[in-house]
Amino acid sequence: MKKMWFVVVVLLIAIGFAGCTQSETPKQTPAPTQTPAENEIPKYYLVTEGMLTVGSDIAYPPFEFTDEKTGKYAGFDIDLMTEIAKRLGLEVKFVNTAWDGIIPGLLSKKYDVICSAMTITEERAKQVDFSEPYFEAKQVIITRADDTSIQSVKDLDGKKVAVQQGTTGDFAAERLKEKGINLEIIRFEGTPEALMAIQKGDADAAIIDNFVAYLAVKKDPKVYRVVEDPEFEPEYYGIAVNKDNKGLLEAINKALEEIKKDGTYDKIYEKWFGS
Ligand code: ARG
Repeated sequence: MKKMWFVVVVLLIAIGFAGCTQSETPKQTPAPTQTPAENEIPKYYLVTEGMLTVGSDIAYPPFEFTDEKTGKYAGFDIDLMTEIAKRLGLEVKFVNTAWDGIIPGLLSKKYDVICSAMTITEERAKQVDFSEPYFEAKQVIITRADDTSIQSVKDLDGKKVAVQQGTTGDFAAERLKEKGINLEIIRFEGTPEALMAIQKGDADAAIIDNFVAYLAVKKDPKVYRVVEDPEFEPEYYGIAVNKDNKGLLEAINKALEEIKKDGTYDKIYEKWFGS
């Protein structure tokens, strides 16, 4: 009988201990060796030593385009990445890449990062890591200035809608179709071709990123008109980095944070979008 009591007491103590240690586990902080020292420069690899190589589909003004006067690459993303490279003590080189192969190009190490007005999406985040968001955008409809038949997404029913293949505009058009808006999607490799299709009358509208549409209207107000619709939700651009290059992701996030803090981001923003 005595023995039984002893066993019960020992068991109760054991259970009590188990409970204690379990409830304490979540409070545990990660081992200090996992957090790098404040000023430690994160280790990363580069495709070319001393150079940040950036993949971009450079036909997307005002984010990335070729300046007709100088023949040089220009745009918000170009300025941002040039500044980030500078902060990392690196040269910068842009590799003009078709949108279609832009993620495969990163995965096969043709460049170190993608900066191409690329929206952070769950699907893409399975393949690449994204920096902290650096720009807020959303989709809009762009249509011919003289065509008043489209005032909201519902009016796209029965219309031909141009998109750049594989963009969030493409995905948005697909979603509208799933919701029962019977539109025909015409896919183009680049956004300039999608816009051209509207001008030529091959398409009735396009679904593209808002600031790209605003600029097209600013340049050709007689040709284009923008239609906004609350159906389209905010999206955020991020810089894509290979998943095996966490150090580079960290370094880029650090530089981005600095650029935002010290007013450089605002300067670049104002240069391209006004205040
Ligand atoms: N933001 C859209 C997306 O991520 C379109 C980006 C297209 N960028 C470009 N440079 N063509 O899908």
